[in-house]
Amino acid sequence: MREAGVNLVSVGIFSWSRLEPTQGNFEFGWMDRVLDLLHEGGIQADIATGTASPPPWLTHRHPEILPVLADGGRLWPGARQHYCPSSPVYRAATKRLVEAVAEHYAKHPALAMWHVGNEYGCHVPACWCDVSAEAFRAWLRSRYGSVDRLNDAWGTDFWSQRYSSWEEVLPPRRTPTWPNPSQQLDFMRFSSDALLECYETEREVLARVTPEVPVTTNFMGFFKPLDYWKWAEREDIVSNDSYPDPADDRAGMRAAMASDLMRSVGRGKPWILMEQSPNRVNWRDVNVAKAPGLMRLWSYQAVARGADGVMFFQWRQSRAGAEKHHSAMVPHGPVESSSTWRQVVSLGRELASLEAVRGARSDADAAVILDWESWWALELPSKPSNRVRQVDQLEAYYSPLHERNVLLDFAQPDGDLSHYRLVLVPNLYLVSDAAAANIVSFVEAGGTLVMSFFSGIADTSEHIRLGGYPQPFRSLLGLDVIDFHPLGALTEVGLELVDGKLGRGRTWSEEVRLKGAEVLATFSDSELKGGPAVTRHRAGAGTAFYVATQPDPKTMDHILAMACSTAGIKSTAEVPRGIEVVRRSVRGKSFLFVLNHRDTAVDVPISDAGVNLIDGAQVHPGLIRLGPRDVAVIREGW
Ligand code: GAL
Repeated sequence: MREAGVNLVSVGIFSWSRLEPTQGNFEFGWMDRVLDLLHEGGIQADIATGTASPPPWLTHRHPEILPVLADGGRLWPGARQHYCPSSPVYRAATKRLVEAVAEHYAKHPALAMWHVGNEYGCHVPACWCDVSAEAFRAWLRSRYGSVDRLNDAWGTDFWSQRYSSWEEVLPPRRTPTWPNPSQQLDFMRFSSDALLECYETEREVLARVTPEVPVTTNFMGFFKPLDYWKWAEREDIVSNDSYPDPADDRAGMRAAMASDLMRSVGRGKPWILMEQSPNRVNWRDVNVAKAPGLMRLWSYQAVARGADGVMFFQWRQSRAGAEKHHSAMVPHGPVESSSTWRQVVSLGRELASLEAVRGARSDADAAVILDWESWWALELPSKPSNRVRQVDQLEAYYSPLHERNVLLDFAQPDGDLSHYRLVLVPNLYLVSDAAAANIVSFVEAGGTLVMSFFSGIADTSEHIRLGGYPQPFRSLLGLDVIDFHPLGALTEVGLELVDGKLGRGRTWSEEVRLKGAEVLATFSDSELKGGPAVTRHRAGAGTAFYVATQPDPKTMDHILAMACSTAGIKSTAEVPRGIEVVRRSVRGKSFLFVLNHRDTAVDVPISDAGVNLIDGAQVHPGLIRLGPRDVAVIREGW
């Protein structure tokens, strides 16, 4: 580990059956040895609470903690994460374990951070058992207070679903056809909260025993079941697990987007890349190896986008168990012949030269709105199109600006938008009154907005906002949407921009009637031929663009470039395609990360002099050559 420059290790994540081999009998000896060794070696520990995989004695004695699916089938033990989030038995057992672990290691000199659970919700994001049903009812009571208000919120007169008492209310179990959509939405809210309560049960113990030790739990990027805005508020430091697919040519963009989300949910504070694979994973159909330099490139990308730590799953490749074919820093074979090991070692050495970057932040002038509740509602079934997926639409907006090296934050629709000049709103289907007003006032105060189709359609109960689509944004956008014309998987619609450029739209089209907005593009074929497809409207001191389809990437880029120029937003640097540039700053010092995602060498123009922290070389204004997948971290100025 010292050879690889390791200075922080997660320990004991899935060790419950070793830490507490039988109920109430704790055995810490083996882990004491590990932690003592780490400490002697100058390495700190991110000690896990170990609660993500209940031991056999617990599920044997209490099979009722096993999770139940919507169709009533119960999951068996034998893998991991087999627990009902609402189970009082599971929660009490985790509390006892965490108390024992926290008290035992509170004073251990290696302890640097606590790692609660692991990837909450990864395999079991919700449970439909009777215990969960009871907890769901309690959650609903506190949200609505009375059965009448629940009936209103769920629109239960439709299909004769009106409840006369709380006892009749159930989680949305498997039904003949769609369960009530408002019920499903509330169940998603409840399920995210139920897991958050599990996390809180543990965090409270840790905060009491070791108030000075930071607490984290590892996130999974764009993980739909958990509202990470809410979760991140309860963490001292955000951490993320990132496994982009080396076979995916958009993987670099996707990893960047997840990193930006982590920086954003943590309110700009540095975060930790908690897990990434040194090389292959084991859980895809085909687990493509990382090309030489790719692990390094993606590690630096996380640092560029706000990470102050780079870690791996896993240290030593295991001999047995479900993940023995997952790569590790230390492979099955001899380390001398492993290029993975060599890359891990040299990354460790290099990262040590980035000390000055620690704590540095990036201020984005533009943000993309992401709201988990709207995501959940958007993807409920029985919509004009099931092909409108939140992450696809986020990517459609994020990707062109990522290519242009415009840094984007993610923001909440009801959050403070005042420090942004440009706000992008892809498919904010569900919106609260407060969030709608917030978005309108952002524009009126001078901001630039780009909103896509099927936004502002539903309220927080997932009831349609009547009065014409998109009701809360009609005057902001200066238009009415008369009706939706979603497009089939193989159908596209022609687009004609006012400057004569041609493009294509997919996924969606709609009939728009102008009420003050100006047309930037029209549909050039289909039954909507000649109708507005992209519009712009001045509202107050700002400008609101509306995009009534999913334009092809080139057209999207063109629209976003217009929006950037309206908002006065510039790229971090004008560089060749495939070069990613991000700046982090701290205490008046700035660091320019330059990442070559191409598999060929590229000459990159640099405008300011500086020093490349990785090799100590001076950088002069002009061109620097970056080899395939190579990176430079330039401390700007002398
Ligand atoms: C993560 C998990 C690790 C390991 C890894 C494999 O989801 O936290 O324990 O399973 O994936 O890629």
